[in-house]
Amino acid sequence: MAKTIGIIAIKGGVGKTTISAALASDLANHYNKKVLLVDANFSAPNLGLHMDILEPEKTIHHTLDKKIQIKSAIQNKFGVDVIPGEYVYNKPLNYLKLKDKLNTIKNRYDFIILDSSPSLNDEVLSTMLASDALFVVTTPDYPTLSCTLKAAKLAKQRGKPIAGIIINKIRNPRFELNLKEIEDSVDIPVIARIRDDKNAVKSLFTRIPLPIYKKHSPLSKEINRLNAALTKNIEKKSFFQKLMPFDFRKERINRELLKESFYSKTFK
Ligand SMILES: Nc1ncnc2c1ncn2[C@@H]1O[C@H](COP(=O)(O)OP(=O)(O)OP(=O)(O)O)[C@@H](O)[C@H]1O
Ligand SMILES: [Mg+2]
Repeated sequence: MAKTIGIIAIKGGVGKTTISAALASDLANHYNKKVLLVDANFSAPNLGLHMDILEPEKTIHHTLDKKIQIKSAIQNKFGVDVIPGEYVYNKPLNYLKLKDKLNTIKNRYDFIILDSSPSLNDEVLSTMLASDALFVVTTPDYPTLSCTLKAAKLAKQRGKPIAGIIINKIRNPRFELNLKEIEDSVDIPVIARIRDDKNAVKSLFTRIPLPIYKKHSPLSKEINRLNAALTKNIEKKSFFQKLMPFDFRKERINRELLKESFYSKTFK
């Protein structure tokens, strides 16, 4: 039975879709997992642009609207089963039906990754309700941190506390919030730290997810380390890391703890 992971942030442009596509393609291609990747950013879907699906015939919108089976909206791209969204869909939909729809195919996969919407409404709620675990993406600045706090509060209220923070687009650490400041304010462990990666824009331009476009880019490598925890594998270390007897990097320790909790029965 699949573990469903929701990638959320109540802020646009922080990297939710880039990270969702990277997690999914890395799990499928480098850990040999069966993965379903779903565009749950209903009002501004753009997962298709990251996964090279430009004019989908059936989308998540159709499956929520009509009684058509969710299976019929799946397309396989880069080894990942993808359910894209419809760029313009004018009818109102009940997004909260997402969980029931996914339940009909959950037993076919090892992981389901939901790329969520930045809107603080039923769209993000649908991801929260459908997920077994939530990861929040943040950039290391105060405006985004305040949105991350909001996301954490909402998730807690809904009984789905966030399992980890992914800090993305780290540019100039001297002028940005550090891991400790972020953890102390939000009280959620940081499970990945991703530098600003010039390959992200190239991967989006070519519509090839980053772990396939460039396996050894900073973003791809950190996503691969996070996926090692999610699949109970050992993280790959660089040559220099192998020379160090101890590695006290907090995100690495947090990933070890995540590895334990992710498969425990108490994990929600
Ligand atoms: N680590 C990174 N380094 C550099 N650029 C990045 C990184 N992560 C994402 N980007 C770029 O940031 C832009 C926004 O990314 P993305 O679309 O994934 O954000 P999002 O949170 O899904 O946005 P939205 O809320 O609009 O759906 C894209 O151009 C992407 O290539
Ligand atoms: Mg997005």
